[in-house]
Amino acid sequence: TMVEKQGFKHFMLKEIYEQPGVVRANLEAYFHNSTDASVSPINLGLSESLYADLEQIHIVACGTSWHAALVGKHLLEQLAEIPTQVHYASEYRYAPSPLTPNTLIIGVTQSGETADTLAALAMEKERRQGQEAKYQARLLGITNRPESSLGHMVPNIISTLAGIEIGVAATKTFIAQLMAFYALALDLAARRQTIPKETVEQIINGLRQIPQEIEETLASQERLTEHLAHEFADTQDFIFLGRGINFPIALEGALKLKEISYIHAEGYPAGEMKHGPIALLDAKVPVVAIAVPGNVYEKVISNAQEAKARDSRLIGVTPVKDGEAAEIFNDLLPVSSVDELLSPILTVVPLQLLAYHIAARRGLDVDQPRNLAKSVTVE
Ligand code: G6P
Repeated sequence: TMVEKQGFKHFMLKEIYEQPGVVRANLEAYFHNSTDASVSPINLGLSESLYADLEQIHIVACGTSWHAALVGKHLLEQLAEIPTQVHYASEYRYAPSPLTPNTLIIGVTQSGETADTLAALAMEKERRQGQEAKYQARLLGITNRPESSLGHMVPNIISTLAGIEIGVAATKTFIAQLMAFYALALDLAARRQTIPKETVEQIINGLRQIPQEIEETLASQERLTEHLAHEFADTQDFIFLGRGINFPIALEGALKLKEISYIHAEGYPAGEMKHGPIALLDAKVPVVAIAVPGNVYEKVISNAQEAKARDSRLIGVTPVKDGEAAEIFNDLLPVSSVDELLSPILTVVPLQLLAYHIAARRGLDVDQPRNLAKSVTVE
């Protein structure tokens, strides 16, 4: 079936607006309210052998999928207490980690066709063959295209249910990948009882609010980001800061901007800014800081203050609308109030819109940026 723009100027904008529905589809497919305390409320349909004696996880991915994997690592380690490493597929295939027993390898690829990710998984599958059982391949793919080459290569798939994505810069498939990692980490946490059942339920209830929170964020954002885009249309460099679970979102915000607006942008964990990027800062380099109340909120605010002291214009992606945050930021991109653990699904939305509006303002081909392809099927 032909996919249409349905009144949106670009597919990317339409796909950003489809995100509440994508979250709903994943909630309906994988999350259940179980009354039985011994049963996980998550049903991903994965084989039991994947869970048994699991000790470690390696994730391979490229681009935006690699950013989703970084959020996944945070969830798998903090909720399910499983040591997890994230690798660029193009690096892992030539320098794999030593083989360890009872290790799950996860490939994350929206298209299921990215050559480096497929090659990394094929290498892993092959080197584990002929080993004793605890080294045998436990392979899992997270993809939006279960019928892809990835689907044929691995025995277990989590299908991310985003529907077809046309814009080259990934948006709704990224949010769908995040949902897959919330589901997997909560499933493992429930089975291993690393967090109380009540906490698992609380987190799931929080996830159920997310579609509406994205809708509110989109509604409040549209004019703000358009307005900011107007002011930044000629800016040459941007810095994005985040910490903890929002560090990968800083990376993703910078990547979106680079991909479609061709503006140089760097994402940094806010605490690392003093070890280099701070030298770049002046009135011409705006800093976008993701500041969500929780574990690292005060730290991010104080890092943002350091940037402001170098004359950078400060843009805050934050649910805090008044008080300290509102005062230190020159501009606010507000998101709905949300638990820090779930916040990446919301904080990425204004960053997608900011990149979109800057690129559109510059008159660029948002859906088909130069030099990029939707899926890179060559090495
Ligand atoms: C290309 C696309 C990116 C995407 C990356 C990985 O570079 O332009 O948007 O994130 O490939 O794609 P995958 O299909 O493996 O998720």
